Amino acid sequence: MTTVIEVGLPARRYPIRIGTGLLDAAATWRDAIRGGHALIVSDSHVAPLYAQRLRDALARASGTPIHCEAVTLPAGEAHKDLDTASKVLDALAQLGATRDACVLALGGGMVGDIAGFAAACWMRGIDFVQFPTTLLAMVDSSVGGKTGVDHPSGKNLIGAFHQPRAVFADLDTLATLPGRELRAGLAEVVKTACIGDAGFFAWLEAHADALLARDVDALTHAIATCCRFKAGVVVRDEREAGERALLNFGHTFGHAIETETGYDTLLHGEAVAIGMLLAARLSIRLGMADEADAQRLQVLLERFGLPTTVPRGVDAGALFARMRLDKKNRADMLRLILWRGIGRAEIVDDVDPAAVRAVMQG
Ligand code: NAD
Ligand code: GLY
Repeated sequence: MTTVIEVGLPARRYPIRIGTGLLDAAATWRDAIRGGHALIVSDSHVAPLYAQRLRDALARASGTPIHCEAVTLPAGEAHKDLDTASKVLDALAQLGATRDACVLALGGGMVGDIAGFAAACWMRGIDFVQFPTTLLAMVDSSVGGKTGVDHPSGKNLIGAFHQPRAVFADLDTLATLPGRELRAGLAEVVKTACIGDAGFFAWLEAHADALLARDVDALTHAIATCCRFKAGVVVRDEREAGERALLNFGHTFGHAIETETGYDTLLHGEAVAIGMLLAARLSIRLGMADEADAQRLQVLLERFGLPTTVPRGVDAGALFARMRLDKKNRADMLRLILWRGIGRAEIVDDVDPAAVRAVMQG
């Protein structure tokens, strides 16, 4: 069975399909390709597993034949940069991709962000379709149209808003996902609950073991709940003028930790897990929330095998300097996403730098 969630943006309405067997069922996604050119963008781990299946399915699909090529990027956050994005643009040039071409992003958030960014840049914007293959990409990065690459001075500093034409989350692909990556995806699932759904947080506490065991029903419920929540936020605030910033709960701390540790020590979801706990602790220090909710968060993150402390040797002052370059900040003002407790995240302006430093020093 496939679960379908609509992202009802006025300028572009698109479906998120969550199910099994989707990669091979080109009948469900062939129509998302409007022209005669398609480029599959994947990475060195995902391409050998799934790229040929996507190509074969497309070749079998009825309708006008599509000229399809593939480009394989080096895997890992350390390669989410302009050089790698250029490889996708080079492949589009080689394909002779015209304005009606379509990029098929097959992979995790790194592939999705780069492929979407290249699609946003090529001829000032061509179509792209997301085939997320990590839990993190299924619950978060494939939805909502944020695309981009990292800069040495910070995460995702170069990018564009560019919505996909459709998202196809094939749960079968999660069978090959390493356990550590699955757990990193669970951090973004917990994030959704922390921001605005205390009932979902309790559901996660009750179903943690099923999720870790990759139970399809539990995963489908978690992915659909996150996508429905995110779709609602994105429809109300596509360009992050306000509410969408809530989706960055834990991210200002997390991005700083990722950048400071060089993108190759912690996974994005792991850094977000640490960041969420720091945000919860800062909320206690500022008198916004009580200890009990931070404690519940810590217990749930630990059950998911996620880190909850800043790695040894990372300097609090350096982290703080990184946080100042966050996209949410305005001029000299530090803007953070904090909470009043589970399910009640808030945007807080002008946070006291001394309190932030103190929390980071533990
Ligand atoms: P990732 O794309 O780097 O994938 C993680 C690892 O898993 C990679 O080594 C990849 O090759 C491998 N992999 C992917 N799918 C696999 C599968 N099915 N089987 C085996 N291996 C597989 O990382 P991620 O955690 O998916 O995404 C993190 C990225 O997403 C970060 O760059 C982050 O900034 C971005 N992100 C973007 C948004 C957004 O709204 N655009 C939201 C959240 C995160
Ligand atoms: N992951 C944050 C956002 O999509 O806005």
